[in-house]
Amino acid sequence: MARHLITSALPYINGIKHLGNMVGSMLPADVYARFLRQTGRETIYICATDEHGTPAELAAKEAGLAVDAYCAQQHDAQKAIYQGFNLSFDYFGRSSSAENREITQHFARKLKENGFIEERAIRQVYSLADERFLPDRYIVGTCPHCGYDKARGDQCENCTRVLDPTDLVDARSAISGSSDLEVRETKHLFLLQSKLQGEVEAFIDEHGKDWPVLASSIARKWLTEGLHDRAITRDLDWGVPVPADTWPELAAEGKVFYVWFDAPVEYIGATKEWADQAPAERDWKSWWYEAEDVRYTQFMAKDNVPFHTVMFPATELGTREPWKKVDYVKAFNWLTYYGGKFSTSQKRGIFTDAALELLPADYWRYFLMANAPESDDTSFTWELFAASVNKDLADTLGNFVNRVLSFSRKRFGDHVPAGLEAGAAEAALGEEVARLLLEYQEHMEALQFRKAAQALRALWSAGNSYLETKAPWLEIKTNPDGAALTLRTAMNLIHLYAIVSEPFIPASAAVMRSAFQLPDDNATWVSHDEACSLSFVPEGTPFTVPPVLFAKITEEDLESYRERFGSAEA
Ligand code: 2FM
Ligand code: ZN
Repeated sequence: MARHLITSALPYINGIKHLGNMVGSMLPADVYARFLRQTGRETIYICATDEHGTPAELAAKEAGLAVDAYCAQQHDAQKAIYQGFNLSFDYFGRSSSAENREITQHFARKLKENGFIEERAIRQVYSLADERFLPDRYIVGTCPHCGYDKARGDQCENCTRVLDPTDLVDARSAISGSSDLEVRETKHLFLLQSKLQGEVEAFIDEHGKDWPVLASSIARKWLTEGLHDRAITRDLDWGVPVPADTWPELAAEGKVFYVWFDAPVEYIGATKEWADQAPAERDWKSWWYEAEDVRYTQFMAKDNVPFHTVMFPATELGTREPWKKVDYVKAFNWLTYYGGKFSTSQKRGIFTDAALELLPADYWRYFLMANAPESDDTSFTWELFAASVNKDLADTLGNFVNRVLSFSRKRFGDHVPAGLEAGAAEAALGEEVARLLLEYQEHMEALQFRKAAQALRALWSAGNSYLETKAPWLEIKTNPDGAALTLRTAMNLIHLYAIVSEPFIPASAAVMRSAFQLPDDNATWVSHDEACSLSFVPEGTPFTVPPVLFAKITEEDLESYRERFGSAEA
């Protein structure tokens, strides 16, 4: 049986992420990892903060901190939020780790050995005031085409024309504002991706055919346009240094690798960080090197697809070493906020820290996954969110759990009642539940999260229909043993829900499960037979009634959310 390696795109260190980032990478990875673990597959889920690059440096400067201190602080802040969302990482690392430095440098040495890296001289803008070379987007000036005065060195935001920094009129540094700029020649390392085009094509031919269209079509588009050689070093203070043993001159100049060169390597680096915490039990290399028995699934939003399907595989292939390459790429479209972009600068949309202050993680987890932007962009609206929470979580699931347990306690005390043997209605319910469970599992295996959420919802609804039909609150008057059977069956459903809802709503699932004091409740998943017979909580099992699982979102709540976060009208 395959071992499963799961990674989700590494969140940039600067700034708290919004719900769109969450649903496009970490959350679905977590749901899948939980499902695999529950169904008995050996699984590790690895993620990390992506800490290098100019944005991190600039954000640190703005915060008035040294960049390493800033990154340490932001890493902890993000990690705490992800814990709040119940993301079950086996390890959440940092791309600035010693492990990543070591492996990134190893990759670069191998690529050079095999003729895929070469030094080239390029001309770049240098800022005398900042004492540094400026990346294109840190040079601003007036657009020669439309006169917009905040055009960036790579593109004019106003007329969308692609620019070269030397095109700008009155060019100045975006960091200091200084116009004391000059063009200097400097050497950089180039990754000769063009030489690897054929091999990457063969890789995509072999693996890409099973990927979702979103991922394979983006990969193909990039290959059609042709793989270009690209600079993989930068003149920055913060990053993985170019190894001095291999490129002494560049190392002496303080060059570091470009953030997109070391970031994907951190998937490996973070696995080593994980293993380094318990070296006796964990073997990082067995997951990544000659790892034929490993199935590797990556999660990311669509803008990340080219890097993961084409560029990183090219890098891995160029080492001429048997590094594990991705087997399945689960890519997502955008989550929008009332049809518009989430925007950090304009404070538009909902950020993960604010979301957790408002409501427990399960509300967000369920809504986001049930509406995941799988085949198209999805628009977040408070109205849709409230409808989904109120109907699915509060009415269909939460109310069922509470109603069944409270009513049974009231009429039969705090043990699962005995009552009649299961009859035709229970047999029909069992079959229905087993069928829906199979459907649910199939969608989860296929990483079809919206469909999986639909099947889960159908499972919850099946309980409600059964309860409505049997109406134990009427049955109790004429046939108490029949009512006891109905309640016992419904309690078995609650236990089943606790197990199978866990990937989506782990905290609520734990509450449901702990309602029953079963002697050895170590069930990880529900078998077909168990679903049919609905008898894993035997009569006489003590139970408690948990507090209301999901509170409804009221009109007043909605009003205040819209006001605080903005909505269509805002
Ligand atoms: O787009 C992003 O958010 C990047 N930080 C993703 C990096 S994924 C991986 F390659 F490290
Ligand atoms: Zn312009």
